[in-house]
Amino acid sequence: EWTSEAFVETTIADLQAKLGNDKVVLALSGGVDSSVAAILLHKAIGKNLHCIFVDNGLLRKDEYEGVLEQYKHLGLNIKGVDAKERFLSQLAGVTDPELKRKAIGRVFIEVFDDEAHQVQDVKWLAQGTIYPDVIESISVNGPSATIKSHHNVGGLPDFMKLQVVEPLNTLFKDEVRRVGTSLGLEHFIIGRHPFPGPGLAIRILGEVTPEKVAILQEADAIYINNLKEAGLYDKVWQAGAIFLPVQSVGVMGDERTYENAICLRAVESVDGMTADWCHLPYNVLAKISNEIINKVKGINRVVYDISSKPPATIEWE
Ligand code: XMP
Repeated sequence: EWTSEAFVETTIADLQAKLGNDKVVLALSGGVDSSVAAILLHKAIGKNLHCIFVDNGLLRKDEYEGVLEQYKHLGLNIKGVDAKERFLSQLAGVTDPELKRKAIGRVFIEVFDDEAHQVQDVKWLAQGTIYPDVIESISVNGPSATIKSHHNVGGLPDFMKLQVVEPLNTLFKDEVRRVGTSLGLEHFIIGRHPFPGPGLAIRILGEVTPEKVAILQEADAIYINNLKEAGLYDKVWQAGAIFLPVQSVGVMGDERTYENAICLRAVESVDGMTADWCHLPYNVLAKISNEIINKVKGINRVVYDISSKPPATIEWE
């Protein structure tokens, strides 16, 4: 029978045997998977694990500062890199979802490579890849070529010439959470909803601009904070706001407005492969809608996504 304690024990021993005194670089994303991978490696090889946390300008509101603080608190050997401008400038004028992913993946590799080169004699690249990532990336090349390219799988550029170590690649998400819990990770990290590598870029339909990112960050923060206050955050598998570049007519005082819309998405799922939309209580939805429309400039309408996967995907792009 699989237990997280036994997994932790054998994985740490395996990592020590495999890595010896080698240096390892790992990109932390703030998510559960890379965090758990980092802590496992940290327990195994200590300061030889060099973590890099990149601010791509597409994270949630206050996420970069909050998560970096948390990682430092855990004792990780971590470097934060502010690369907002590099990402956002490469996204200017890009509207196609896959081209956005490619641009973000490309910039990420450049930024990460710059940082990895600063670690002398690094031999390994660690990734928080979990089992469903492996499966989806295989099926990308299979008969159902419709699945989106997940840029965080198999993303090793040749020029980095690093060996890959993926301590979680046999685990499902719930197992990763159990491992994280037995490693003593706090709920702040373990309980986080999944968040896509390309971040808010794929939750802003069409072109990404700094102004739209700022609007979406505000709306999303209101949404997520309300879910937490209502005790619903932990019951939902993933939630997020989406910026719709559709203008509609509204009225504010005596003025007619013509502004954008925010869509709220919340799903229940086991592994993200299939998902049902959540039946969030109307009173909670009403409060979120009022707060977003009253507080977020540029938004005059909020809608709720009632589509399940399949045929809809969780993200809109
Ligand atoms: P979809 O939209 O395909 O999403 O139903 C399933 C799960 O995958 C996440 N997702 C991504 N994660 N890079 C990622 O790291 C991506 O390009 C990407 N696209 C979707 C999504 O947030 C959901 O949890």
